[in-house]
Amino acid sequence: MIREVITYPNKLLRKKSVDVEKFDNELHTLLDDMYESMINESGVGLAAIQIAIPLNVLIINLPNENDVQEKEDLIEAINPVITHKDGTQVFVEGCLSVPGFNEEVKRAQHIIVEYFDRNGEQQTMEAEDFLAVAWQHEMEHLEGHLFIENLSFLKRKKFEKEWKRKLKQKS
Ligand code: CO
Repeated sequence: MIREVITYPNKLLRKKSVDVEKFDNELHTLLDDMYESMINESGVGLAAIQIAIPLNVLIINLPNENDVQEKEDLIEAINPVITHKDGTQVFVEGCLSVPGFNEEVKRAQHIIVEYFDRNGEQQTMEAEDFLAVAWQHEMEHLEGHLFIENLSFLKRKKFEKEWKRKLKQKS
């Protein structure tokens, strides 16, 4: 079922998510709904809090080298923890909860993350480049933060200005 993706400045997006305790049907439905909701909005990643569920659950589905977003490449991560970070990279990011705004963010280039899959099996993944960006971006949602909080003072001002203009156009 497609669920509504909440957008900035909805206060729920600032809520810190908590760990999943049961790897049951309810979790599987949540994951399936997250996937449908993300695809519906042409996203490449989504955290549960973006559909108003404050649980440490995220999904990532990047396009492959042929620029096709295959479901077989879908990553579903429960209670993820980044255990290693190194290097830096600057990447232009966007977010379904901040629609229509993209900006450069500096993050680690390479990470190692530990998490559980939908069946409660522990997994480890090493990621770099865009995939490492996606992980760090989604993990930030679980902490109650948005990518725009990483912007420099001037870029944040630019965002606030563009956002206000956008809200005006809507009303
Ligand atoms: Co996001």
